[in-house]
Amino acid sequence: PSPPAPSSGNKMSRTPSIREDVETLLVSGRQIDEAVNDLATQLTEDVGDRNPLLVGVLIGAFVFMADLIRALDFRLEVDFLNASSYGDCTDPGALEIVTDMTCDVTDRDVVIVDDICDTGQTLRALVLMLQDRGAASVRSCCLLDKPDRRTCDFEPDYVGVRIPDRFVVGYGLDYAGGYRNLPVVGVLRPEMYESSKE
Ligand code: IMP
Ligand code: MG
Repeated sequence: PSPPAPSSGNKMSRTPSIREDVETLLVSGRQIDEAVNDLATQLTEDVGDRNPLLVGVLIGAFVFMADLIRALDFRLEVDFLNASSYGDCTDPGALEIVTDMTCDVTDRDVVIVDDICDTGQTLRALVLMLQDRGAASVRSCCLLDKPDRRTCDFEPDYVGVRIPDRFVVGYGLDYAGGYRNLPVVGVLRPEMYESSKE
């Protein structure tokens, strides 16, 4: 029998990889795992005996949430909301709830889970909102933090990795809806940002 005709490349090599669009790797998969495990240890100590309600901020937090809850082995509940803040420090009420959560937070110990704390406006407004709704306690937890970008007096209670003031993608974070499935956190090549501007 004649040998198989040489192929022009298998499917893997012809499918463009989003990894090729990344210029700088900021947080590796291993660093993410370590950060998630550290955060899990802290949360276990602080709320492990309280059946806490973890509230993820969609869309970006869904990857982090999925890994974080599997690193926790105490009883907990999960909910999500989709919110963004367009306010400033003098107007913390300017929080748009696109889709609200379904659980009642009254007397619950709540942990807000987000992908990144940037200006701090979103998490700050969400903490105030959930306190206002009668939560017993409200903590905030984010995988990434860009402290240099803060425009208000807010610090998350739990931070995985502090990063410099760069726009990042991956591990849930998007640029123009893409790159959420990248399993690491990185900065895109400049032309990737430019190409979608036209
Ligand atoms: P903040 O209210 O300014 O802290 O905004 C936080 C939200 O902005 C995050 O939950 C993200 O959805 C988004 N965001 C902030 N920085 C980045 C980034 O570098 N890449 C992708 N999304 C970001
Ligand atoms: Mg967000």
